[in-house]
Amino acid sequence: MKVILLGTAAGGGFPQWNCACAACTSGSPPRTQDSVAFSADGRGWHLLNASPDIRAQILATPALRAGPGPRETPLRTVLLTDAELDHTLGLLMLREAADLTVHAPAAALHALTDHFPARPVIDEYHGWNWLPTTETTLDGLHVTSFPVSDKQPKYARSSPRPGPWVVAYRIHDPSTGGTLVYAPCLHTWPPGFDTFTEGASLVLLDGTFYRGTEFTTTTTADPAAQQAMGHVPITETLPRLAPRPGTTRWAYTHLNNTNPVVDPTGPEHAAVVGAGAEMPPDGTEFIL
Ligand code: MLT
Ligand code: MN
Ligand code: ZN
Repeated sequence: MKVILLGTAAGGGFPQWNCACAACTSGSPPRTQDSVAFSADGRGWHLLNASPDIRAQILATPALRAGPGPRETPLRTVLLTDAELDHTLGLLMLREAADLTVHAPAAALHALTDHFPARPVIDEYHGWNWLPTTETTLDGLHVTSFPVSDKQPKYARSSPRPGPWVVAYRIHDPSTGGTLVYAPCLHTWPPGFDTFTEGASLVLLDGTFYRGTEFTTTTTADPAAQQAMGHVPITETLPRLAPRPGTTRWAYTHLNNTNPVVDPTGPEHAAVVGAGAEMPPDGTEFIL
């Protein structure tokens, strides 16, 4: 299985367009918003989340460009972890795709119909398949999911609804034995997540925040606003990685602009690397 990290930043990207904090003005390498592409055969490609940066991400990734036919594209599927705008706005950019299948948690499909009506809007262009996330097979790759959080997108909070709202995905290639786990939104390290990640070749984890108090130290934002975003900080997940070396590679994605690890020369970046995890840049490719 081929895996390409299309984007590795949280909502707003890095630098964030409306932020003049020290990190955003530091000149550290830019990152687009979180999305991953994977493929069993290098011909058909599947997306994990569809970020608002999807157009630039496709154009920057030769494997995802249109062809060989004049209006052919290698994109087949979008697996959504949730209905957050930074993971779903890209669906609207893809509206010219004649045929796509979107898998999402049932609650997220509801949000994409009633609150942020991407689904009915796109259905006016092309009738895609919209499926609630279940165990499935894509070009021989075995896909399972795991509910990780019940955080509703801010735009849908006016009507509380039972979850699961957010899932992680596990993609296993039986022909190579390679396994990818993608979990860019973790409220906590949920019970059962050790088992879900066990034996994976690569685990992409929620790296939104380094510390639980980051909003106050880097911008003037309210600490409660950081709490409400529902992302467990790296300082809490990093110790979980230590006792499980094996062959697993751990990498953080969905990095927020306030996260000091975006500076590759900083002590926090060094601490993550020292603990055996990575913060790969956009465009990083893995063969699993
Ligand atoms: C999140 O990851 O918490 C959301 O994407 C926040 C947002 O951008 O609305
Ligand atoms: Mn996000
Ligand atoms: Zn900033």
